Amino acid sequence: MSEPLILDGRALSEKLRKELRGEIEGYVSSGLRRPGLAVVLVGNDPASQVYVRNKVNACRKVGIESLFYQLDENTVTEELLEVIAELNSREDVDGILVQLPLPSQIDQRGVILAIHPEKDVDGFHPENMGKLVAHAEDGFIPCTPLGIDILLSHYGIELEGKDVVIVGAGFIVGRPLSLLMLWRNATVTVCHIHTRDLKKHTLSADVLISATGVPGLIKEDMVKKGAVVVDVGISKVEGKIVGDVDFEGVSRKAGAITPVPGGVGPMTVTGLLMNTVKSYRKRMKVHSTSTMNP
Ligand code: GUN
Repeated sequence: MSEPLILDGRALSEKLRKELRGEIEGYVSSGLRRPGLAVVLVGNDPASQVYVRNKVNACRKVGIESLFYQLDENTVTEELLEVIAELNSREDVDGILVQLPLPSQIDQRGVILAIHPEKDVDGFHPENMGKLVAHAEDGFIPCTPLGIDILLSHYGIELEGKDVVIVGAGFIVGRPLSLLMLWRNATVTVCHIHTRDLKKHTLSADVLISATGVPGLIKEDMVKKGAVVVDVGISKVEGKIVGDVDFEGVSRKAGAITPVPGGVGPMTVTGLLMNTVKSYRKRMKVHSTSTMNP
């Protein structure tokens, strides 16, 4: 049995971030300011703290200035909206990211609506979601779908006419990813908690993407031989980071597969960096020197 191709998000991220770093250093050496990303974390959720730290560190390494705002667990909506209003008006802030989920007392929808669409590097504002529906290229695509799209394209995985099955219909990954895959001319199926026969759908997939956060949900007998399998899940089981896919079993069937960690995770952060630089270019009226220009 041949081993599947490993879709190495860590290696691709390294290459893309090096390009971004070169581009940013070019702007700085011509006298321009650095791109700036504001990252806002409300509360002390341990997983969110790790994600936010990764994002801030990744910014520093490519030369993006990051402003980190840690707000108290008991912050109320109005206080968070004040922070956002200040960040909206700051010239040196190109992107604003409010880490989700927010504590339950905060009006999450109101917060997303308050972020200026031109600084919404998460792509969650309805204006950017609408641009994704309309295939308008000046919007921001949410970071995980963007990262997955770039990863598949880098490995030359054809999507036109293919059956792409997405498991998970969430607002952050499944829904926007389904639109992006439609724009690649794939036939897209989105499965979710109410789907009656999940295995029937997953077995039909040429490209199977799972974004549920249920560890080990996708097993060997649910995957067609030769399928491309993309694992968006990040869960902690007995102190170990695992995905939605039973990697060992599914590797016996898949033609290509993303590892966890080292697959989609780093590509999400790279998507965020790319969106931040995209915003910077637009705001500073400069043109990309990168080979990748989302
Ligand atoms: N929480 C889980 N994923 C994300 C993301 O992509 N962006 C933000 N802001 N919060 C998240």
